Amino acid sequence: MSYRVGIVGATGAVGQELIELLHRRNFPMDSLTLLASKRSTGKTITWEDKSWTVEEAEPTAFDKLDIAIFSAGASTSKELGPEAVKRGCVVVDNSSAFRMDADVPLVVPEVNAEAMRNHKGIIANPNCSTAVALMGLAPLHAAFGLKRFFASTYQAVSGAGASAMAELIDQIHAWEKGEPMKVEKFPHQIAFNVLPHVDVFYEDGYTKEEHKMLNECRKIMSLPGLRASTTCVRVPVLRAHSIAINAEFERPVDLAKAREVIAGFAGAELCDDVENKVYPMPLDFSGKEKCGVGRLRIDSAFENGLSLWIVGDQLWKGAALNAVQIAEELHKQSALA
Ligand code: A2P
Repeated sequence: MSYRVGIVGATGAVGQELIELLHRRNFPMDSLTLLASKRSTGKTITWEDKSWTVEEAEPTAFDKLDIAIFSAGASTSKELGPEAVKRGCVVVDNSSAFRMDADVPLVVPEVNAEAMRNHKGIIANPNCSTAVALMGLAPLHAAFGLKRFFASTYQAVSGAGASAMAELIDQIHAWEKGEPMKVEKFPHQIAFNVLPHVDVFYEDGYTKEEHKMLNECRKIMSLPGLRASTTCVRVPVLRAHSIAINAEFERPVDLAKAREVIAGFAGAELCDDVENKVYPMPLDFSGKEKCGVGRLRIDSAFENGLSLWIVGDQLWKGAALNAVQIAEELHKQSALA
């Protein structure tokens, strides 16, 4: 069985990765349709020896598709996702639009693939930091029972899209030339800076990004009572998010066992040999399917606690790769008509 696949937001940072990953992973495709806003209609996109003309993402575009992967922001998903489903197209949505809806499965295939059985047309892909964090937290939860965690993220600019990457590079060039820097995508200069501000602030002082991490971890791991306090931070890194986590578990933690379960988890690569200066870093985990987990140590503040450091390509595991893995799982579960 092979499918007529569409990408909504094909001209964006995640869209470009989707084109690559669908091909690299040989997703069974009869055709690939690239959709974006009206601005991009008629543009040519090439990948290796193939090329496509970008079409406008409008409701009728989904008549000819079996599956559409959306990565064009929540408002586009809200507007066009239900239209696609109405037309018989299964939607894998990378935005936050439907993630917390009770009847929409929120899926990381290594953790809760079974949740997508009986989906109603839309399957949500988690926030990038959530997906990366789960590559360490999920296997540890299975081994020791996760109770609560603290996390600080170090998030790459590409999480805010292609134009945000360009803004960091432009600011560095402006600095070299002694020219004023343009600040548009981020609330402050991002070059040579660190911004403790990702997405909008809520009344409780946390940001939407920080709320997403807790709520999405709860839903994906089926742990409604999980507690977490996170600080999401934007750093001047082009690609791959890093996350420092201190986690507390129900049962005593054994370091050797922790290393073993991480090494045996499909989405993780154990990268933990501090004597030889081996720990995961964004430059090493950009363009990698697995997320690196390292700096494992018994936490000195929690009772049954473990500290760890996770790095993952948020354009891949945090977005495009996870979406393609969901599509692969749908194919495996024969859920695509
Ligand atoms: P376009 O390039 O035509 O604006 P990024 O996350 O890198 O900023 O990319 C966002 C993606 O979402 C782009 O492909 C962009 O297309 C697409 N997009 C933005 N608004 C819409 C819309 N209203 N309809 C369809 N695609 C959209």
